[in-house]
Amino acid sequence: MSAVLRPTDTETTPVRLDSNNLGTLHITPLDAPLGARVSGIDLRDRPTAAQVLALKAALRRHHILVFSGQSPSDQQYLDFTLHFGTVFTSPRNAPVLGSDPYGNTPDVVRVSNVDDGLLGNHELPAHADHHWTPQPSAGSLLLALEVPAQGGDTTWRNLALAYDALDEATRREIDGLQLITYNPFLRSKKPLPGGKVDYRTPDIEPVTPWVAHPLVRTHPDSGRRALFLGEGTEVELVGYEPQAGAALIARLRAHLLQDRFAYTHRWQVGDVVYWDNQITLHGRTEFNPAQRRVLKRISLSGSTPF
Ligand code: SIN
Repeated sequence: MSAVLRPTDTETTPVRLDSNNLGTLHITPLDAPLGARVSGIDLRDRPTAAQVLALKAALRRHHILVFSGQSPSDQQYLDFTLHFGTVFTSPRNAPVLGSDPYGNTPDVVRVSNVDDGLLGNHELPAHADHHWTPQPSAGSLLLALEVPAQGGDTTWRNLALAYDALDEATRREIDGLQLITYNPFLRSKKPLPGGKVDYRTPDIEPVTPWVAHPLVRTHPDSGRRALFLGEGTEVELVGYEPQAGAALIARLRAHLLQDRFAYTHRWQVGDVVYWDNQITLHGRTEFNPAQRRVLKRISLSGSTPF
């Protein structure tokens, strides 16, 4: 005779997020449209269950978390990050920042203008990491090791607020649309004679493979709707007349780039920012190439957008 398993047999007491087991961890919302400052935690140490749960809840609520005064080794940085998911990997035919010819990327990517780092000193338009892959990254972290005296600031944008602020008619028009975001690393191998475009028209040969995701994405944990569209990437609306599609995308981009959805971070050495790629964009200003800027990035794997 088999035992009957009643619901209460498997119930355990959930971890309570109160000051007894959060230790010194403190989370303070920023005076900004997104973001919270996290203090009282050292990323070199193993976080407690309550701390991990509190940070997950804070990320869901605030979309970016700012830590300061951190100095983890690469291994400690990775150990801390792995409490929130597994490291992002991309299919071999969908290269991303740091991919080698076999499609492998290091777990910790060096975002730096010196010593064989990636991305140089130029401005980066607002983007979500790995948007052009089948399962874009759920979140990323940057750790600042060296920062320039001026420039190189990173701005995050709240895509849920941007969606909520659209008028009803636009929301109705875009709900259900599919957007292709072409892979910029594939395009850079097949540059266009006329230079980069931010909307593909039928006269331009597409780079393949490409993948389409909902233009309005639902956050997999919070259920919030967000305008999932980057600033400068080559995109195309599926099944939309090209001119009308380009005009709609230009209008949505102008909308989401408004300062009222943005928080700009001026980096200090030892800062770590952990952000949710599923509901934010980030981009940075250029900086003087004679100055050093060295950050380390880890990206977490994500799921198919819906
Ligand atoms: C990135 O997009 O991963 C880098 C952002 C930055 O350098 O601020």
